Amino acid sequence: MVKLEYFSGVSLCAGADHSVCQSTVLIPACCTMRAKASDMHSKDCVRVAVRVRPFNKRERDAGSRCIVSMVSSSITIQDPRESQSRRIFCFDYAYWSHSSFTQDRGGLYVPEEPGGRYADQNSVFQDLGEGILENALQGYNATLLAYGQTGSGKSYSMVGYGPNKGLVPKLCDRLFQAIRENQDTRQCQVFFSMLEIYNEQVVDLLSRGSRTPGGLRVREEQQRGFYVEGLRTVPCDSAPQVEQLMEQGTRTRTTAATNMNANSSRSHMLIILQLKQIFSKESITKQSNINLVDLAGSERQRSSGSEADRLKEGTAINLSLTTLGNVISSLADVAVGKKVVHIPYRDSVLTKLLQSALGGNSRTVMIATLSPADICYEESLSTLRYAERAKRIQNRAVVNESPTERLVKELKAENTRLLQRLSRLGQEGRRANDETKELRQLLTHNELQIRAIQTLWEQHLQEALKDWEQQYANITQERRMMQMHPYILNINEDAQLSGVVKLFIQEGDWDIGLCDSSLRSISIKGLGIQERHAVFRNEQRRVTLTPVAGSKVIINGNAVFQTTELQHLDRLILGSNCTYLFIGYPSERGGDDWSRYDYDYFQSELAAAEGIHLGESSAGSSQTDPSLLAVFYDYIKLMPMVAEANQMSQELNKGVQFKLEIKNLALSDSKGHDLQKEIVVRVTSLGKKQVWMWSKAKFVNRKFLMEEAYQLHQVEKSGDNRVEGLSTAALPRDKDPFWDPVEPVLLGTAHLWLQSLAFRIPLEEQLEVLGSEGTEEAILQAQLVPCTSTGLPMGEDDILIDPSELLGRRLDFQLVLEQCCGLRWIREARNRGVQIGFRLFNCSQPLYSPAVWHNVNPLLDHRVHFAALHTSKCLLDYLQSSAVVLELWGLQEGCTDLISSLEGVRMTTEGIFIIEEAGPTDTALVDSGELSCSVRALQQDMEELKSVNASLRKENQSLREQLNAAKNGGESVRGRSVRPSCDAEFARALKVFYHCMTSVKGQVQRLRRHRPSEESDLLGLRLFVDEQSRLLRDFSEQLEQSVSTLKQDVAAIVRRKRERSGIWS
Ligand SMILES: Nc1ncnc2c1ncn2[C@@H]1O[C@H](COP(=O)(O)OP(=O)(O)O)[C@@H](O)[C@H]1O
Ligand SMILES: [Mg+2]
Repeated sequence: MVKLEYFSGVSLCAGADHSVCQSTVLIPACCTMRAKASDMHSKDCVRVAVRVRPFNKRERDAGSRCIVSMVSSSITIQDPRESQSRRIFCFDYAYWSHSSFTQDRGGLYVPEEPGGRYADQNSVFQDLGEGILENALQGYNATLLAYGQTGSGKSYSMVGYGPNKGLVPKLCDRLFQAIRENQDTRQCQVFFSMLEIYNEQVVDLLSRGSRTPGGLRVREEQQRGFYVEGLRTVPCDSAPQVEQLMEQGTRTRTTAATNMNANSSRSHMLIILQLKQIFSKESITKQSNINLVDLAGSERQRSSGSEADRLKEGTAINLSLTTLGNVISSLADVAVGKKVVHIPYRDSVLTKLLQSALGGNSRTVMIATLSPADICYEESLSTLRYAERAKRIQNRAVVNESPTERLVKELKAENTRLLQRLSRLGQEGRRANDETKELRQLLTHNELQIRAIQTLWEQHLQEALKDWEQQYANITQERRMMQMHPYILNINEDAQLSGVVKLFIQEGDWDIGLCDSSLRSISIKGLGIQERHAVFRNEQRRVTLTPVAGSKVIINGNAVFQTTELQHLDRLILGSNCTYLFIGYPSERGGDDWSRYDYDYFQSELAAAEGIHLGESSAGSSQTDPSLLAVFYDYIKLMPMVAEANQMSQELNKGVQFKLEIKNLALSDSKGHDLQKEIVVRVTSLGKKQVWMWSKAKFVNRKFLMEEAYQLHQVEKSGDNRVEGLSTAALPRDKDPFWDPVEPVLLGTAHLWLQSLAFRIPLEEQLEVLGSEGTEEAILQAQLVPCTSTGLPMGEDDILIDPSELLGRRLDFQLVLEQCCGLRWIREARNRGVQIGFRLFNCSQPLYSPAVWHNVNPLLDHRVHFAALHTSKCLLDYLQSSAVVLELWGLQEGCTDLISSLEGVRMTTEGIFIIEEAGPTDTALVDSGELSCSVRALQQDMEELKSVNASLRKENQSLREQLNAAKNGGESVRGRSVRPSCDAEFARALKVFYHCMTSVKGQVQRLRRHRPSEESDLLGLRLFVDEQSRLLRDFSEQLEQSVSTLKQDVAAIVRRKRERSGIWS
């Protein structure tokens, strides 16, 4: 028998789905058809184009700078931190879609002036799309890949938005146009399929049945290479038909993403167009596959920051993209003549399916999309590097052609033979009855096949058209509904998936929720959606929403519990994160622009309700600080993820809760600078009250793993195997993304300023230990005691007026941690403990006080002796400008104490920690540039010191003389002990001043961290303002008082000195 697939490329299907053919062919890796001899050895390099998009809102808000420039097809990217550092790349095409454009009446983005530099969708299509079309018409396989970070414009280029149609629809348009134009010479058949690869699972986006658990299978056959088994391929004969199929696919993608709680930026979307051209005159068939691939966001390819995590990023999440990178690298190596043993096509689904596109039988184009903003520098550079590697890949494309009628001819010839035999049998007088029967059967079978081959296309097309008409009727119906009723519109993080789902609210009461059984219900799925979640009522052209008890409903950022009337363009969040825009009756709509209500808008509004603002309201005032802006966007990005994580934790019975916190990095900065803030996630176990702090990167990683676990759970739940105690809930601990071993938690920090040590003045302090959000975690009593090398405290006589006297000399002091009072951590749960950690000057390792447990006011009584053997200028500067940051660590049941690692720490035999060993030569730590710089500074210092020394010596001399004179004058009544020297008085005055200054500094810190509580309403804010002004008043009073005391003291000293010199002279 002859294999049918050989002929048609589309197997005959006798399956249930009659309207379309369940094709099994995707991309023939090794072409079974005859290749044109002239093409056999031609090599085609992968062509690469780069496109730069306009700034988005975030980038504009941040006042971003454009760091990308283009001259013809070369592109330059500049490191925003180093203006000198530039990298230039050359590609086949470079598209400037960043500036010099305007929107015309029809909404099209076009160059500002004709022939301007702006590259619009048309010009991109003319270069890339026409080429692909040309190749396909010639019978080559063709592939177009879009690569870039999420939000860089992949989907814009591939699919497009609204009237700005992308490459795929334009290509289809032109394809069908070309087919019409060439009708006389050939008959063409186009088959369309659309699939998504998510987590290494293949989802058929056009499938009308329910989703296959675990996805469709990717199989391999020697002749065809890899293909997706059972993928729906729809025959098409017009561009609108294809567009409708794409719309349908996008809708499936959107619902799948919300149902499965999956993130579209992590999935790859593939559109496959199979084009078959039958040239009847030449009796030749050409067949080509066009693969159009919108890849997952490239940012996750570098396992972002998860290196610190116990659990590696879910391998499946980016396996396809990483493998694609590996394949491209290997092929690029091959191209430059390196020996490559193995190209890892088989390591992922995507690379299996793209095997022929990469290094095989395909003409391939990659469009790499970039954001031009400085804040995206790293990602953009990595995209350019990737594209550069792809450029080197060489394919070997061949025309896939075969003699058309061979199969039919062969079948016909066989039939003639059979008929001859039959007639012979008849003549022989029906002796061989069985044989006759068999021959007839064979004949019928063959005839059926011939007919099938001839009618296959027509028939399928007819059926597909029927299907299409049905769909079209649905769409027309939807359009009509939009003009009649209010509805809600889905808003997705991925703009491409926004506005795809419309749920109409007709007159009467409508339940919304998981329920799909009742007639009057609107069925939605998603995290945290209840069976009956809320009720819409549409009565007398007014729409209200009433949440069902226990379900989460947020309107315009605020949680609602009662019946609320909806206004046109209200924002709804149902459950954890199902976001919808409410569209009122047509009469209410006006010409307003809905596009500003994007996903960011919803999340910003939610954050604002939590008290997190961007401060935009101070209309048009100065630009927001970029680092604050970054924190804000981090916050609104993580906020929905935290809500989802909480919901998953609840559904999977994990007993942990997640909460976002903004950590003030100033808390651990030894200079107390209010530099940056960072988002952290506090994880609390509900039962045991254990606490973990996760970094943003760790949380993002874990969230992916949680989704994986959750999806598995969903699949199991929906499957037949409904077992008690689901297996996902019982993941082994070392694989459980919700679990971590207990570890000490940083509760807060306090700053102990070191300035007094530079004067050898002892300091005793009650320090407020503040948590990252400004909460008071405890009061810590600490001291800094200047001492002798044997640890004896120094007295007032040792106080220095000029700290530079310390230079080159030994300095000893002790840090004493006396007691912690009012520990919030222990008050919350008694089975906890604390430790204090600190790190001084250049100590490489932190030191920790011994752990104390179960006590709210524990005595620490911890004393550490430090010594600088030769005080350097550097150390002195450090003492005068810095604080030692005392970290309060919380210990919890089951975790081990923090131990001071003494590795690399220098100590004397008496247990004194040495913070500085020798003179200037010992500072030779870092690099020679820095070294020579500091040597020069030291030399300068030395010169200065020499002159200071000389003048001091002179002064000393004169003092000594005066003293002698005084002694000789018999003024011995007031001895040294009775009448202190002016220096000592001065030192004492200084001491008082520095004490005051320390407390003033504390006040500044307090002010800096003082912020209104999250739940503050107007009254709360008023109270906050009052408190803030009181603190400010206190602060200024204290400052004034310190300065005036100092002034008075100095004046008194000067007066006394004058008096004395009056007596003495
Ligand atoms: N060349 C462009 N011109 C205008 N807007 C663009 C362009 N490229 C991207 N955008 C806009 O940027 C946003 C993100 O683009 P999108 O294509 O969805 O990113 P990706 O698919 O890479 O995640 C969309 O709102 C899109 O309209
Ligand atoms: Mg996209």
